[in-house]
Amino acid sequence: PVVVVDFGAQYAQLIARRVREANVYSEVVPHTAGVEEIAAKNPRAVVLSGGPASVYEEGAPRLDPTLFDLDVPVFGICYGFQAMAQALGGTVAHTGSREYGRTELSVSGGVLHDGLPETQPVWMSHGDGVTEAPEGFEVTATSAGAPVAAFEDRARRLAGVQYHPEVLHSPHGQQVLSRFLHDIAGIPGDWTAANIADALVEQVREQIGDGRAICGLSGGVDSAVAAALVQRAIGDRLTCVFVDHGLMREGERQQVEKDFVAATGARLVTVDASETFLRELAGVTDPETKRKIIGREFIRSFEGAVSEVLGEGADKGETVKFLVQGTLYPDVVESGGGSGTANIKSHHNVGGLPEDLEFELVEPLRLLFKDEVRAVGRQLGLPEEIVGRQPFPGPGLGIRIIGEVTRERLEILRRADSIAREELTSAGLDGQIWQCPVVLLADVRSVGVQGDGRTYGHPIVLRPVSSEDAMTADWTRLPYETLERISTRITNEVAEVNRVVLDVTSKPPGTIEWE
Ligand code: XMP
Repeated sequence: PVVVVDFGAQYAQLIARRVREANVYSEVVPHTAGVEEIAAKNPRAVVLSGGPASVYEEGAPRLDPTLFDLDVPVFGICYGFQAMAQALGGTVAHTGSREYGRTELSVSGGVLHDGLPETQPVWMSHGDGVTEAPEGFEVTATSAGAPVAAFEDRARRLAGVQYHPEVLHSPHGQQVLSRFLHDIAGIPGDWTAANIADALVEQVREQIGDGRAICGLSGGVDSAVAAALVQRAIGDRLTCVFVDHGLMREGERQQVEKDFVAATGARLVTVDASETFLRELAGVTDPETKRKIIGREFIRSFEGAVSEVLGEGADKGETVKFLVQGTLYPDVVESGGGSGTANIKSHHNVGGLPEDLEFELVEPLRLLFKDEVRAVGRQLGLPEEIVGRQPFPGPGLGIRIIGEVTRERLEILRRADSIAREELTSAGLDGQIWQCPVVLLADVRSVGVQGDGRTYGHPIVLRPVSSEDAMTADWTRLPYETLERISTRITNEVAEVNRVVLDVTSKPPGTIEWE
């Protein structure tokens, strides 16, 4: 891989994604990883990420100069650029002119910026600067606050930039990163959806051998793609379990039962548990209580189905040894980057399986980012309705009905939601929004007039949000015409609703979901 050394400024994951967008596989390691650990990964190149403002800062992470003895191409970014300059005998100093945000870069030559505009905007964030490049380096760009804003030593395959090429505010950043990877480091772009899918299928086949596996499908992208990969690897020895809790949106069960099965040919067991869920939710209005009940019932239903699948296996004298999970790379990096497979007794996404069931985890997506998961899903022939799906919470419409959850209320919300989704899709807005929860204020009533009569119905809230990772979000400025169409259709077509309102709160302070 290309190893991205994380100097702790939260840019490392983004850099790793950008490297992969250049079709080169990358992994993130913490800056505490020693040179030996990096060398053990047999890196095609090393990228040093941004970090704290200054290499002089108290406790600033150090760069071990023996990294350069590995004779591996190295690219330094921001702090990594300064650390690299210092380690190789250049000079880093307080230049007295800080640069934060959009800055103009003047390019004077070199391979990194070859063919790009001589002056271009870049995103800077630094107090110190490199004032003298190490011996053997050509200085190829400057800015007002950075006398050395980029340098390269093509013979040794080393280069670096003071700015952040990974952020969108550096419009040519991706090209610069590609130049380093392909032209300076000489790495071919072989990380493609087709290669990834083939390699993962092969890995899964090796891990599972002639064993059997189960996979819980949630209706979401990750579990669907994980299941499709495993199905491709072991065919009918995979059983998928889908728990229909009755809190799904219109068409979702069908998407799993028909579209997913049609595209993969996977064996699917559906558990129809909506009666139980509704019974358990009767009279409950507190959001946390609802979540707990839904979580608990989900596990019970899943367990029930698993024992059935296990039972089938027992008939043939086999057991199901493997549990497939759609864990993604950001979760792996955030939880400390553990490696290998773990023997588990409980399962986060399903919430905890019975104590006496032990599964070996199969996590075919644990090295992938979300956009790669989608690309692999497409490669495996999953339909766009599944791979392009926006996030939807596990507790489903249960936490989008403010008040008690009943069958009638679910029906009202399902129709309103389906209209909103239909209009957003036909307006071509799906790519602009992260998701658009549609919320029923079931305990609120408002007066309206329709035809000649007074109505006393419920408001529906539209909550369109834009986000990168759901940690923060902004409300999406949808075109008025689209909002108008949604409002008109919902109030016309859903008799119990006589008002449609728009949520214009960012996150924070609001969360994306209302409960
Ligand atoms: P909030 O409401 O916390 O939502 O801003 C952030 C993102 O997480 C989704 N979400 C959930 N997803 N189980 C899930 O699988 C849950 O219990 C859950 N609650 C919220 C929400 O849709 C948004 O994308």
